[in-house]
Order: sequence, then C-alpha cells, then structure tokens
Amino acid sequence: MCGIVGYIGHREAYPIIIKGLQRLEYRGYDSAGIALYDGSDIKLSKTKGKVVDLKDKLESEISTIGSLGIGHTRWATHGVPNDVNSHPHYSNSGDLVIIHNGIIENYDALKKELIKRGYVFKSDTDTEVLVNLIEDVKRNEDIKLGKAVQIALNQVVGAYAIAVFDKNKPNEIVVARLGSPLAIGIGEDEFFIASDASPFIEFTKNAIYLEDEEMAIVRRGKEVKIRKIKNDALVDPYVQELQLNLEQIEKGGYDHFMLKEIYEQPEAIKDTFRGRLLSKEAMVKLAGVEDNMKKFLAADRIIVVACGTSWHAGLVSEYIFEDLARIPVEVEYASEFRYRNPVITEKDIVIAISQSGETADTLAAIKLAKSRGAFVFGVCNVVGSSIARETDAGAYTHAGPEIGVASTKAFTTQITVLTLMALRLARAKGTISSSEFRHHLIELELIPDKVEEALKSDAFVQTISDIYKDATNFLYLGRGFNFPVALEGALKLKEISYIHAEGYPAAEMKHGPIALIDEQMPVVVIATKKGHYEKVVSNIQEIKSRKGKIIGIVTKGDKSVKELADHVIEVPETIECLTPLLTTIPLQLLSYHIAVMLGKNVDQPRNLAKSVTVE
Ligand code: AGP
Ligand code: GLU
Repeated sequence: MCGIVGYIGHREAYPIIIKGLQRLEYRGYDSAGIALYDGSDIKLSKTKGKVVDLKDKLESEISTIGSLGIGHTRWATHGVPNDVNSHPHYSNSGDLVIIHNGIIENYDALKKELIKRGYVFKSDTDTEVLVNLIEDVKRNEDIKLGKAVQIALNQVVGAYAIAVFDKNKPNEIVVARLGSPLAIGIGEDEFFIASDASPFIEFTKNAIYLEDEEMAIVRRGKEVKIRKIKNDALVDPYVQELQLNLEQIEKGGYDHFMLKEIYEQPEAIKDTFRGRLLSKEAMVKLAGVEDNMKKFLAADRIIVVACGTSWHAGLVSEYIFEDLARIPVEVEYASEFRYRNPVITEKDIVIAISQSGETADTLAAIKLAKSRGAFVFGVCNVVGSSIARETDAGAYTHAGPEIGVASTKAFTTQITVLTLMALRLARAKGTISSSEFRHHLIELELIPDKVEEALKSDAFVQTISDIYKDATNFLYLGRGFNFPVALEGALKLKEISYIHAEGYPAAEMKHGPIALIDEQMPVVVIATKKGHYEKVVSNIQEIKSRKGKIIGIVTKGDKSVKELADHVIEVPETIECLTPLLTTIPLQLLSYHIAVMLGKNVDQPRNLAKSVTVE
C-alpha cells in the first residue's frame, strides 16, 4: 500500500504533488519520489525516507517547474526501501515514467522474459518490470501509450493503481486500477490523480473513482476517457461530489485508523496470500520457505519469539504447526527468551514475528538465537525493517501500514502467513493428504469473504458495548486455537479502554478465575462449533450458575450457547484451524466501541507506542 499523486493542468504541479504526498503518508513512508515534465524533459528525484526528506533533496537537485507530474510515497513490498527502489521508475529508454501502488504477482516471469529481450533493471521492484513491459509492448506494436498500457496490463497478474506518462506525449497521463484505489479530481481544465481525494480536496470536489479493471486517459483540456482494461469497452464516467473533509478522507471515512484497519482485514488477508495461495494448482508458494526447505524438514522444533499481539499470533501458529505439520513448537516472549539461557541448537528453527520489525526485545532474541546457530525466519509487516534484515529468511505479511497502536490487521495477516507456512510444510512432510491440503486452501481462500461477513456484527457489537462499557473487569475465555484469541481480545480491551481484562483457556477457569465471577462480570466466551464445543458449553454453564454475564462468540446458526448466553455474536463457519481469523473480529470491534464510548484516545492510547524499540 502506498500513495500516488498526479497532476496535469495549468498550475505548477510540484507544490500540489508534494502536499498531496504528505497527506498520503498514512499509506506508507519508506521513500518518496516525484517526476515532473518541465517542458522539454522529465525531471526526477527520489529518496529513501519521508516526503520532507524528498522536499529537502529535491529543491536543491532539480528544477521544479512544470504543469505535469507524478509523485509517490512508498510502502515497500518488493525490494528494500532505498533510493533506487523508490518510485517513480523509468523505462529503459527513459521515455516512460511510472508510479505504482500494489503488487505485480507474476513480475518474476515477466522480468526474465524482458531480460532475454535485452532490458536491464536497476531496482528490485515489480514496478520497474511493469514500466518496461509497457515500453516493450509500445515499441513492438508501434502503438499509443494508452493501448500499450492496456495490452501490458492484460498480461499482468496482481493488484495495481498506476499512473504513467511518456515524455514525448506530455499532454496525457494514463492511469489504471485493479485492487488498489485511484481517484481522479476534475477541475477547470486540470486533473488531479490520487490514491484518495485528500491531495485535491481544496481544488475540486468533483471526482471519479475508477472501478477495478478500468483505465483512463487523462488528457490536458479534454474529457477523461475511461475504458475496461479487458475488453476495451468505453465506460460512462460517474462524477461524484465529495462531501468529506480532509481528515475523514485520510481515514477513509472512518473515525479512527483502528476501525479503518479492522475493516481493511478482508483486503489485507487477500494481499497476504496474493501469489502465494494457488488453490487451483493446489500449491502454496513462499519463497523464504521453499529456498530453505531442507532446513525446515530437518528441524527438531520451531521456537517462536515475539511480543504482544505478535506473540498471540505465534500461539495460534503453535496449534496450527503442530496440528498440520506435526512439528513441535514452543512460543516464547522475546523479552524472557533473550535473558534466559535457552537451549537452542542448529537443528532449531526460530520464527520471529513482528508487525513493525523494530521491536527491541524480538531483535535481541533473534541475535541470541543466531549466535547459537539457529536458523531464524522472520514474519514481518514492514519491508526492510531491522528484523526483516536481521533474519536469515522470511515472509512479509503485506498488510499495509498499520497506524493504530492497537494491532488488528497485523494479527490476522500474521496468522495467514503462518498458516500458509504450516500448510506448505505439512505437504512437504506428508502429514496432510492432498485432498485435505486442497480443502484447507479452498477454505483459506474463502476467509476474506467470511471476515467481511463477521464485520456485519458491528452494529450489534456496538449495542453490547453500550451495555458493558462501565464494567471494571472482563474475562475472555477460549479453547484450542481460540485460546490465544481470548488473550488477544483481553489485550485489545486493556490497551485502548483501560479496563482490566484477562484471557484464559476456558477449562482453566475452574482452577482460579472462577472466583472472580459474579453478576458484575462480563465473560466473553469463544464457543465456535468446531473443537471442544461441548466442553466450552459446560464452561458456559459454570459461569451461568455463578450469575456471570455471558457474551458468546458462536458459529452462525448455533443453538445451545444461544440458550445459555446473555448475548451471542455469530461468525461464519470455517474449518477449526481458521476460526481465529473470524472470532477475533467481534473482539476487536468490542474493544473499539467500548473505548470510543468511554472517550479514550483509540489510535494513540496512553503510555503505549506503535513500535517498542526499547527494552
Ligand atoms: C498490540 O496491539 C500492541 N500494541 C503490542 O502488543 C505489539 O503487538 C507488540 O509491541 C509487538 O509489536 P511488533 O509486532 O511490532 O513487534
Ligand atoms: N510493489 C511496489 C513496490 O514495492 C509498490 C508498493 C505498494 O504499493 O505498497 O515498490
């Protein structure tokens, strides 16, 4: 996920683009770059770091005059954040220049083909492949840029919002979208292009939002022409009048980043398995695992090191790895692990999980594990982060930037990557039959839609939040795969509403916490159909006998829990190991709504920081 901005019209493009990029920095800030057409040539400047770094560099480096330009603020997916991998990217001839938000899944095959035809690549990005593919098509077929973009995009698998222009045709910008957002602001004889409307809201309230599989030619002084990428059919442009203010736009219309990120989960999970989960071919492709398969297969055990929410994702993975791949797993708090004298051998695989990739304790645990000869695999969200660089191999979650301090989409995408890993290893080890494997892939592929459905409980969760917002304690219970979800639900509530909450394995309740239960105590019980259902129902009986208030998270259509609980929130049915991806959704929403009702600072809760870079 990154931010793109473009301008073509009668004003100076530079200030509009720079300001626009600053507004889009919530979408990523690994690097920034800009390409301007100054009347005779393209002036391009880019740098690692934030838009302010670009500004400093650029004003001393290039002339910023010109009324056509494109700019980018990057959240890296392919290639570490450095100057060279920053956008915009030139084609080999230097005629075309592109900015891109998304992932070109088949970039590797396309790149090999282009190299055979003599193309050279400066960066590691998928984007540079796309701009050269467009150039190749344009040159071979001797066609206009728009047509070349269309033909090239028909060869591309993946997601994109792009803007590209040709220095020999400085009167048009070609844009296209599939899976990543792209808005066109319509002014008086001028057009604005952006990932959302925030870069142009002060210039125009009229905007066209491109739909998936649409492209547009934005020509100076002409009407915007929109076509379907697949069949070239002309589309009638639908010009919307924007009602939102700037802040609302940056948050995608949501009140808080946390809520936006909760709602982004269906897309984020899809991005996580893009190009990796190939259900038709019955394959899981994870380069980091594939390249190190021997090590994984020879491993005696997996040790997971992480903190906070990432540690909870690690706990879920313990159940998944052991169940599917039959590899023993230990899950360690990085902060404890690093100061123990842990027994680690060369036959251990350490998986470090971290959204930020900067958590000091996790980083120290990795260093310790490496010094004892273990192979360390990273599961990070932030590309090129310290943990991503320090580990021997890894897999990114590709969740997009997480701004809210309380982790939401990072958790579900971490579980998604870890599940893909477990499935790949299970297949390689033969601990899962091919039909079961295929069944798991199909079920995993359905998860984004089911998360979408789980999100529909939002209004009902809000009602429940209103009833319990003044409680001073909460208990969260779950078993098996959903025990870590109970821990995560309790952590979310503590973090943002400051209400004391505890997560427990449901059966452990009778060994102590049951003493806490009275008519004041809300108990959130995850009681999905699969996995120890009857046992959890018995636990619910025990709570009811002590007059606790029961909020059940149940499988759609459940009857038994409904009879016992005060409230039930339904989630769609799925296979047992994937239930955490659904049961966690209402718990995120519950903590969110309670915190909002209590007037807390949801996105920046007191005493916390997004990445904890100190011990
Ligand atoms: C989650 O809501 C927290 N803010 C926190 O527990 C977090 O998960 C933890 O600090 C680990 O961060 P990381 O994933 O960036 O390493
Ligand atoms: N895949 C491109 C890159 O890594 C675009 C990144 C994005 O949209 O997040 O540079």
